[in-house]
Amino acid sequence: MDSIEDFESIQVLHQYQYGLLISKVMFTASELGVFDLLLESGEPLSSGAIAERLGTSPSGMERLLEACVGLKFLRMERKENRRAAGTLAKECISLYPNSTAIVFDLPEVVESLKKDPAFSQESWMTFQTGDFFKDPVPEADLYILARILHSWNDEKCIQLLTKLHKACKPGGGVLVVELVLDEDKCGPPEAHLYSMLMLLHSKGKERTSSEYQALFTAAGFKEIYQQGEAKLVAYRQDTGNILLFDYWKRASQAVLQQAT
Ligand SMILES: C[S@@+](CC[C@H](N)C(=O)[O-])C[C@H]1O[C@@H](n2cnc3c(N)ncnc32)[C@H](O)[C@@H]1O
Repeated sequence: MDSIEDFESIQVLHQYQYGLLISKVMFTASELGVFDLLLESGEPLSSGAIAERLGTSPSGMERLLEACVGLKFLRMERKENRRAAGTLAKECISLYPNSTAIVFDLPEVVESLKKDPAFSQESWMTFQTGDFFKDPVPEADLYILARILHSWNDEKCIQLLTKLHKACKPGGGVLVVELVLDEDKCGPPEAHLYSMLMLLHSKGKERTSSEYQALFTAAGFKEIYQQGEAKLVAYRQDTGNILLFDYWKRASQAVLQQAT
């Protein structure tokens, strides 16, 4: 090895090699039908059950699923999603204990959260079931959309954001937590990986900050802020309410802590 440049080139090649292996894991799971099977089943399945239903070797499937979990392809989407909303609310309340949180989600997710001892005893947390496209959303000072918009196409995002814009009280706002693509779309790599996942699982994608801003503008929002590093984008409606600004700042700090 002659120079620092050579060393850096080898490091870059290693990164690409890992990238290739990661994509192999994702495409193998996809081609075997693992993601489709889990989506259709609507509930967690053991690796043995998945291997049997897909006609694969049990030990090979176990290893593939472990790799998917390690790479967060399945852990994020299947095992922990049901707790994620409650965990985020808990983080926010721990930084702002005088507030309360309503977890709004589909009935099956809310039912499982209600049974979870980590959340069922919390007096500051209430639950509301509903479909955010069809049903009314609860009244709130701040709406937090964490890892929601990346699952939907632009049209659906604007539909949801327009609904929240109408629901916002004066001074109210919306806080969005997403991985954000660089403006030139050259990184960060985890945002590209999640964008691929969104292609497999949904009609969504990861977006740049200006793409998010365009969605908010189309939904009627006037003041749009970005805070933190690429992992956090925060938006709110107006600056009239100092208390809300404090609330918003603390909530976004909580989210930032959780995201890092
Ligand atoms: C990726 S998870 C994000 C969960 C959580 N916000 C977090 O902090 O990670 C997406 C959530 O959106 C919920 N969801 C999907 N479609 C929905 C709809 N139409 N109405 C309400 N919730 C929905 C899912 O059930 C799931 O809990």
